[in-house]
Amino acid sequence: MARRAAVFGCSGQLGIELVRELKERNYQVVGWERAAVDISDGEKVERVLAGVDPRFVFNAAAYNQVDVAEREPQAAYVANALGVRNLALACRQVDAQLVHFGTDYVFDGTAHEPYREDDLPHPLGAYAVSKLAGELYAQAYLERPLIVRTCGVFGPGGLTTNRGNFVEFMLRRAADGQPIRVVEDHIGSPTYAPLLAARTIDLVEKNQHGLFHIAGGTPISWFDFAKLIFKTAGLNPPLQATNEREYRTPARRPKYSALSNDKMEQAGLKPMPPLDECVKTYLAVRETLVHPAKA
Ligand SMILES: NC(=O)c1ccc[n+]([C@@H]2O[C@H](COP(=O)([O-])OP(=O)(O)OC[C@H]3O[C@@H](n4cnc5c(N)ncnc54)[C@H](OP(=O)(O)O)[C@@H]3O)[C@@H](O)[C@H]2O)c1
Repeated sequence: MARRAAVFGCSGQLGIELVRELKERNYQVVGWERAAVDISDGEKVERVLAGVDPRFVFNAAAYNQVDVAEREPQAAYVANALGVRNLALACRQVDAQLVHFGTDYVFDGTAHEPYREDDLPHPLGAYAVSKLAGELYAQAYLERPLIVRTCGVFGPGGLTTNRGNFVEFMLRRAADGQPIRVVEDHIGSPTYAPLLAARTIDLVEKNQHGLFHIAGGTPISWFDFAKLIFKTAGLNPPLQATNEREYRTPARRPKYSALSNDKMEQAGLKPMPPLDECVKTYLAVRETLVHPAKA
């Protein structure tokens, strides 16, 4: 019998990849984008899950506007914390495993090596607090949730999603021909969405629960990531390094938020490939989407 899975936020970067990967692995998949089911509507979440009765519920829905969240912290909290509470309560009703995604921004960035699952969170702003609260709600109501924290997600879906991603942002800026300033004093581990989806489902299939980090595996500054993107794309736009002092944003962000994949690897999962390979793959897939006739 096919295993049933439900995906909330199915039209985001990660949601698209979860649906694709689950179907490839022969799951029966039902996905809802925000217009169909807003996870802040608890009654609706409960109703649709009762209708599908899935074994696994993936939450790829999230309010990800880190800077805007400082102006509207309630909106971030409703989606990222109370929305997860709704999902957790509904998962209890149908006895499904909730697979939820968290963020590297739960950390304060004072570390000098990739954060591990047992490092203490210390979020620096409204988005980060709301995401940490979401993790807590999942853990509060469920015995065996799987919570996967990730970092700097980029997937081909970012070509068309509302929020896009850093690679698309850089390519658009390069096309503008204006000088591009990117911070060199913030380090993360950018994560290719199709691999994030695949590794997460691997964990599910290994019957894992608890907190895991799944990120790109290559700690890199955003400036160096931009350089890598342009080099791989064969572009040479006017790129300048800047820093946190010069480039102020409404939200505070951790200076260092690379995540360690050690626990994931110890669970028997394949390490992530180097970032340059992921960027190359991303650009190749992107090309088939932008110019389908050439593919
Ligand atoms: N993107 C990153 O760099 C990054 C970094 C660290 C962690 N993460 C985490 O990774 C996960 C996946 O992120 P992503 O990159 O796939 O984000 P994304 O592309 O922005 O997708 C998020 C999706 O959630 C939907 N959504 C927002 N509020 C919702 C609600 N109340 N109910 C239902 N759907 C809602 C959005 O719909 P609309 O577009 O219509 O609003 C969008 O389709 C999230 O948990 C995110 O917090 C992401």
